[in-house]
Amino acid sequence: MNTPRASGASILLTGIAELTTNDPERGGSDLLARVRDAAVVVEGDRIAWTGPAAHAPDADERVDLGGRAVLPGWVDSHSHLVFAGDRTSEFEARMAGQPYAAGGIVTTVTATRAASDEELRAGLRKHVAEALAQGTTTLETKTGYGLTPAEELRAARLAGEFVEEVTWLGAHVVAPGADPGDYLAELLGPQLDAVRGHVRWADVFCETGAFDEDASRAVLLAARDAGLGLRVHGNQLTPGPGVRLACELGAASVDHVNHLTDADVDALAGSATVATVLPACDISTRQPLAPARRLLDAGATVAIASNCNPGSSWTSSVAFCVATAVLQMGLTVAEAVHAATAGGAAALRRTDVGRVVVGARADLHVLDAPSVTHLAYRPGVPLTHAVWRAGAPVRG
Ligand code: NIG
Repeated sequence: MNTPRASGASILLTGIAELTTNDPERGGSDLLARVRDAAVVVEGDRIAWTGPAAHAPDADERVDLGGRAVLPGWVDSHSHLVFAGDRTSEFEARMAGQPYAAGGIVTTVTATRAASDEELRAGLRKHVAEALAQGTTTLETKTGYGLTPAEELRAARLAGEFVEEVTWLGAHVVAPGADPGDYLAELLGPQLDAVRGHVRWADVFCETGAFDEDASRAVLLAARDAGLGLRVHGNQLTPGPGVRLACELGAASVDHVNHLTDADVDALAGSATVATVLPACDISTRQPLAPARRLLDAGATVAIASNCNPGSSWTSSVAFCVATAVLQMGLTVAEAVHAATAGGAAALRRTDVGRVVVGARADLHVLDAPSVTHLAYRPGVPLTHAVWRAGAPVRG
């Protein structure tokens, strides 16, 4: 997903029954700023024109999309794809009533440390391709299954070969066998030093059984001093300080947000920190669904992401997450699609993806349906007809 093609030729895409632009400048009451009977012109890897087909300019080539809906590629702002091993038995136990706990992460740490670079690359290649084939054109992924300076650096480097947004999550859990104080010192010193040139973001799992408020704050402040942007896993399994800390420190996103107080909701509504909900994870861990409706009503910016990982959310399907957000969390289709495109872009502080506007990267998701409504109206049906990334078709 890291090698955009840039050809100079212009391509006119027609036969678009419904174009989701997410363009705030189009005005109107539709959150998705949709254009019916639309056309798009792509030049090189960028969007050069959008609007009604009747007004479309000429181009070097023409592609007829056959009356389908087109939306921005998904911006999946939360995944954990540098891993080896399998946790089927943990999932089976959970479905039989066992609770999800942070301790399962260690199973994946052991398998990941034992894997060769080539094995980890093969997994990354497969998972990233699977996501792309389903319309995910921007993907964030995290380290966090290495938990030593050398292993976290290895994970960051490998992730950077496949995705454009890499996050250091050395503060996932305390490394197996380590003393918590010693491990915190390692995070703040040698581990951060090892990864800092290889990642854009730092993340902390601020949770009972992982890192408490003081340790989370120390890691986030050190990462901020090192020039990294901040992300937080917060309020996933219990109420806690994660959301408050993320807002206070200006994190780009706080993710999970299942257990929120009124003060947490107010803090998110009054800050630039995006609340990222992970519907597939909520269902797979049998946690209360994150209160996405309440967050939107309060004025917070909400993103939807897959949290694709082998423990708590083993799916790369953002479409499934969108359908779940509509059918179970009370979002409208427009709100959910916006959260998984423009919302994901906001969570990554990106303005070049998540919208189909002039100058944006030409990342397009073509549905085998006339409207994005079908994403929730036909849940579970694979609706991706084609995906374009950086101006070139990758499937279809
Ligand atoms: O985002 N919550 C912490 N980390 C991951 C889970 C990773 C795992 O269970 O392996 C998450 O859900």
